[in-house]
Amino acid sequence: MREVLRSLDVFSGELPDFRPEVAPDTPQELFTAWLTEAVAAGVREPHAMTLSTVGQDGTPSARVLLLKDVGAGGWSFAAHAASPKGRDLAGTPAAALTFYWPLQARQVRLCGPVAPESPEDSAQDFLARSLGSRAEALVGRQSRPLDDPGSVVAATEESLARLEREPDLVAAEWTLYTLSPRSVEFWQGDKQRKHTRLAYLRSGDGWTKQLLWP
Ligand SMILES: Cc1cc2nc3c(=O)[nH]c(=O)nc-3n(C[C@H](O)[C@H](O)[C@H](O)COP(=O)(O)O)c2cc1C
Repeated sequence: MREVLRSLDVFSGELPDFRPEVAPDTPQELFTAWLTEAVAAGVREPHAMTLSTVGQDGTPSARVLLLKDVGAGGWSFAAHAASPKGRDLAGTPAAALTFYWPLQARQVRLCGPVAPESPEDSAQDFLARSLGSRAEALVGRQSRPLDDPGSVVAATEESLARLEREPDLVAAEWTLYTLSPRSVEFWQGDKQRKHTRLAYLRSGDGWTKQLLWP
């Protein structure tokens, strides 16, 4: 395997230019620009990100989630509060988010406190999901041991039938969370290894920008 790994090319193809000296004043603006470029370039699941949380015993845990929104308040994602990540966030309400867009050799890292949005906003997020996704979330046993794969089908069908009877039903623990970053780092890869890193650091109500050694 080592030979295969060493033979793999990195940062191949045309890479975009990144000029930190003309970067916007907020990380939201730069993030939106980079995400828009990833979408336009055809990156698969460009809104997929790694959410890293910390468990009660200090063990870190990471998994991929979909980004739901970005705004002045922060970066939002939705999850079941009773899932392991939901329990992690209840115990330690802080997390890191990592995006990687391989076609552009770009990474964005954020970290900061995480807070649940209002029950109304969480319900709105739930109701905007497809029927299948709502049925899956309504089952709500995510990450528990599964002894019989057949029970997933049975539980999902039961949820689907319930949603047909009660179309406005919302899974009680479905939660929209927002991470309000303390720092957001933009990393632009370069073929000659002259990578560019720009960090936005929260400063009062605004942001200061800081270049970092690659
Ligand atoms: C591309 C992709 C998108 C995903 N989106 C979500 C999501 O938005 N919400 C979610 O709860 N799980 C999502 N998952 C599944 C999670 O990675 C994870 O397996 C699940 O949430 C259980 O995590 P936990 O045991 O740490 O709570 C996604 C997985 C992938 C690969």
